Amino acid sequence: MTTGPILKIEDLRTYFYSRSKQAFNRAVDGVSLALKKGETLGIVGESGSGKSVTALSVMGLVTAEPGIITGNIGLKTNGVQKNLLQDIDDYVKLTRDNARSVAVAKDNPRWQRHVDKVMRGVRGKEISMIFQNPKVSMNPFSSVGRQIREAIMLNTSINNRKEARERALYWLEHVKIDSPRLRYDNNPYGLSGGMCQRVMIAMALSSEPSVLIADEPTTGLDATIQSKIVSLLGELKSTVGVTTLLISHDIDVIKTLSDRVAVMYGGKVLESGPSKEILSAGQHETHPYTAALLASIPTARQIREKSYLQAIKGDVIDTVNLPQGCRFYARCRQVTKQIKMQCKHQEPELREISHNHKVRCWLYFDE
Ligand SMILES: Nc1ncnc2c1ncn2[C@@H]1O[C@H](COP(=O)(O)OP(=O)(O)OP(=O)(O)O)[C@@H](O)[C@H]1O
Ligand code: SF4
Ligand SMILES: [Mg+2]
Repeated sequence: MTTGPILKIEDLRTYFYSRSKQAFNRAVDGVSLALKKGETLGIVGESGSGKSVTALSVMGLVTAEPGIITGNIGLKTNGVQKNLLQDIDDYVKLTRDNARSVAVAKDNPRWQRHVDKVMRGVRGKEISMIFQNPKVSMNPFSSVGRQIREAIMLNTSINNRKEARERALYWLEHVKIDSPRLRYDNNPYGLSGGMCQRVMIAMALSSEPSVLIADEPTTGLDATIQSKIVSLLGELKSTVGVTTLLISHDIDVIKTLSDRVAVMYGGKVLESGPSKEILSAGQHETHPYTAALLASIPTARQIREKSYLQAIKGDVIDTVNLPQGCRFYARCRQVTKQIKMQCKHQEPELREISHNHKVRCWLYFDE
């Protein structure tokens, strides 16, 4: 295993401008993450916390006008470092009034052309992505085998059809599709949801990417299929060893598959570190938000007795109207008298509390 991250996201900000509110939705607001070769980094957080927008930003797929992005996304492949956000600012102009952005002009066609140029040879090749709904991402009119074969011919050194077909069959077998030779000729709508997700995983891996991004790969599948896909991803982690950014709101999935975890809320990382340490910790060893997330996972007994549903109280933060202080303040149950004013008025930084374990909370840095 080489040292140094393959993917290094630094101070990523992805904002969507609302003309009606004359303000930005700060969907991702200064996120830094690093992914080392062979490791799986999980991103967990409630709905709307910015997980998918982070992934889409890496893929150059934030196309909505007028979404803007700043920061660095460094991708290192074959020893070559590339910033996927290089020069992106050239295509956006912000007009400010008293330090507040009041208008954003974006040259969308040129922005798009620039992104496509930067992402050529990266998207689908160096970085592959699997989504929640595999059927939507596949061509409904072409057989799944042919789609994988074409991806192989496009993204790898194999340019011989017969060889690409054999390679596609290899990947279908690798993701445990039963009767791969028969399934090869099926169109996506002829397959079940779980089977389709396996095909999608095969397609993503077939281009032998440096990084795989999996955004809610098990959400939307029924419980038994979910656990089978989690087992498959676990097996692939040891057999293929692909470097993975795994997004899920399911803590158990993250705990099973990730080496490290980043907990996101309101567009920011509130805690990051070793997955097992953080997701198995007691209430006072993690960020209050993580503790609340962990407390909201129902136990097997609670599920049986239907006495769970202790979701975190209060509404998820509105990333258009952000408070001055800690983003979790309005819902936090751990604020003490001593730190209350800091929590309310000053946003804490993400700071290390133990080796590789960082927390953004005044409780840990009461001065
Ligand atoms: N194209 C877009 N235009 C405007 N706002 C957007 C767009 N895409 C996402 N957002 C906003 O960005 C914020 C973060 O959304 P995101 O999809 O990243 O959340 P998430 O953490 O992936 O949630 P979920 O668990 O529901 O998938 C939300 O406020 C969302 O409404
Ligand atoms: S900084 Fe304060 S409000 Fe924020 S999570 Fe920590 S204790 Fe809670
Ligand atoms: Mg999402």
